[in-house]
Amino acid sequence: MKHLIDINRLEKAEIEKIISLAGEFKLGTRKSSVAEKTACLMFFENSTRTKISFDLAAQKLGMNVIHFDGATSSLSKGESRKDTFDNLSAIGIDTVIVRTTEDRFIDNSLKELALPLSFVNAGDGVTAHPTQALLDYFTMLHAFDSVAGKKVCIVGDIAHSRVAKSNFALLSKFGARLHAVAPGYFKPKEENFRVIYHDSLAEGIKNADVVMLLRVQKERLEGEFNAESYIEKYQLNSEILDKYAPNAILMHPGPVNRGVEITSELLDSERGKIILEQAKNGVFVRMAVLEMLG
Ligand code: CP
Repeated sequence: MKHLIDINRLEKAEIEKIISLAGEFKLGTRKSSVAEKTACLMFFENSTRTKISFDLAAQKLGMNVIHFDGATSSLSKGESRKDTFDNLSAIGIDTVIVRTTEDRFIDNSLKELALPLSFVNAGDGVTAHPTQALLDYFTMLHAFDSVAGKKVCIVGDIAHSRVAKSNFALLSKFGARLHAVAPGYFKPKEENFRVIYHDSLAEGIKNADVVMLLRVQKERLEGEFNAESYIEKYQLNSEILDKYAPNAILMHPGPVNRGVEITSELLDSERGKIILEQAKNGVFVRMAVLEMLG
């Protein structure tokens, strides 16, 4: 594996290897083979979980970790992206972990580069967030041996969600039954996976094995968003979850907007605890990804 750009480009065997390695790192039975390498964290868009867990993952592997700050870098003096990356490679960076608002940022960058670098997509625009899908899958596998035949329902702003896209891509490879609940304005225009869409929250989550909520991404919306009507129809609380999906695990990639897609009482309840387990698992999955890149 040279880069991790999109789940669609991973073979099932590579995903299984990442999951297995993450399990070993979680158990503490695996040693790093990348301690001499240097990772550069390049976050052009805000992040808490992904940035901190990649940083910690790299440190746990014994890697050198460099933080690239776009605003104080020579990009702000007009240096091109190509020259920036070629200079980072020349200085000694092995892996660039990049979060950006630009769709396909890594593919666009790779076309230009003269020197070698490995890239990890830490979330690009509305396109892909592969390590989130991998850590979500890792977390699901702690609840079930396999997702084959399991009903996974993702609720919310599917159209702007790179998390939903990457999860659908991964889960479809492993035979999950994919459902989504979204108002028309949050349904994607194009859909590459066999996802069954519902307008009704109760109908969509009924007998689900996994219910995954998404934040409404106001920063990516073009028109006005009516929070009141969204909350009325799509907000999940304990009563609805217990009634329609009593056995489901409840997931959320974060950040959570308390009181919008989920009530505080559900988030803080026993059923909400797995959301922090997702964040914790992110460290081990990201260690596995960095180890695989070598
Ligand atoms: N899930 C996720 O990507 O969270 P951050 O934006 O905080 O990294």
